Formats: sequence, C-alpha cells, structure tokens
Amino acid sequence: MRRPVIAANWKMNKKIEEAQAFLDEFIPLVWNEREVDIVIAPPFTALYTMANLLRITNIGLAAQDLFYEDKGAYTGEISPVMLTDIGCSYVIIGHSERRIYFGETDEIVNKKFRAARRHGLEVIFCIGESLSEREAGMTFDVLKRQISEGIRDISSDGLIIAYEPVWAIGTGKTATPDQAQEAHESIRKTLSHLYGEPAKGVRILYGGSVTPENADVLMACPDVDGALVGGASLKADSFAGIVKYNKQ
Ligand code: 13P
Repeated sequence: MRRPVIAANWKMNKKIEEAQAFLDEFIPLVWNEREVDIVIAPPFTALYTMANLLRITNIGLAAQDLFYEDKGAYTGEISPVMLTDIGCSYVIIGHSERRIYFGETDEIVNKKFRAARRHGLEVIFCIGESLSEREAGMTFDVLKRQISEGIRDISSDGLIIAYEPVWAIGTGKTATPDQAQEAHESIRKTLSHLYGEPAKGVRILYGGSVTPENADVLMACPDVDGALVGGASLKADSFAGIVKYNKQ
C-alpha cells in the first residue's frame, strides 16, 4: 500500500502573517487526518516561522527549491544544509516553472536531487509535458527522459514523483482521470525498467488544477498516489477539502 501524499505548493504567495493565518484555520481542520501525509511548501521567507508552528503537528514542511552546493559564493541561493537547519524535511525539485522561467535543465535537476538526498531531504520530483509536446504525441518520451535524467544515481527509497502536465497548471484545465492514469502508468513502467520491483512503492502525485471538486476522481485512479496543489492550496478550507478526499 502506498501512503497518499497531499502537498501544497504556495509558489510566490503569502507573507508570514498570511501563512500564520492559514495555519490557524487549517490545522484544526486536518489535525485528526491519519491516512495521508500532508505537506506544505511556503515561500522561503515563511519557512522558519512555519517550521516552528508545524513542529508538533501532522503536517510536513517543504521548500520549493534548493541549490546543489552546501555553501559558498552563490548569491541568492539556499542550500540543503540551510533547509535541514531550520527543520525542513521535504523539497520540491524540477517544477516546470523553474524549468521554464529559470532555465533548469534535467542535469541541474539531477544535481539538486542528489544534493537533497545527501542531506536526508525528501524530494518531490516534478515532471510533465507541455501542450505542444502533448499535441506532438511526445508525452511519454518527455516523461521518460525527465525521469531517467532526473533520477540518475538516485535510489528508489522514499521516491516521490509529481506528474504535472504544464498545460494543466493554473489553467483550470485538469487532466481527465484517464489522462492522469495513463501518464502515471507510463511513469511507473519507466520506473520498473530502472528499479524493478521497488517501482511499485514509488508514490506518484498528480498536479495541475486539482480542487476539492475533482480530487475524488483523480485520487480514485490506481496509480495516482496523491496531489501537488497550487491555487487551491492557498485557502485553508479548499486545501483541507482536498486532504479530506473520499478515501473509500
Ligand atoms: P495549480 O494547482 O494552481 O494548477 O498548480 C499546480 C502546481 O504547479 C503545483 O506545483
């Protein structure tokens, strides 16, 4: 059995005060949730405050990115050492917005992945095709390349992958359950070629316009093991609604 993960990616949203207000409302809504791992990735500026507020809760803390060196002359960057220092236990790596706006290649993503692992951070590794790649029939090739390059020299232990089709992010155009299942199945097949049997234990999250309304049907897909949520994670009641999807 793969334990579901429901993760919030706040992207570049929320000041510290807003993050605190979110938790005041959110924690009471989910404190008794035992069946899923709940994770929140606030912006860097709110991480330290959030780490203190989440310490005795059932909610994990993620950074949205990191740099692959431990320290040094890298102006503006945050290292894995700094993240573990403040009590962060997860990190999102390879998000399409970083690949698109900040030029992250599969090679950089892999370096970040290895750095995170060296320091014991759990990685939510994002992959996904663009609309033009999907229309050109390249979806599975793109996913295969992103996986094999991104997880080079990475073991399958604790691996979490987020499939986020770029065309579904922030657009309100969610993948249908069939599209999500088909992609997740192909991801698991690629993982089986690379890892064999342990691929069955890898959790594969879906991301792209997930809402409380569509969470049930997406989570019912056999290879969908969770969600990485952007817009709908910014409000406590809607994110709690996703955490509390129908588990029957
Ligand atoms: P939306 O849920 O806003 O589509 O964002 C998805 C995402 O990019 C999460 O990382």
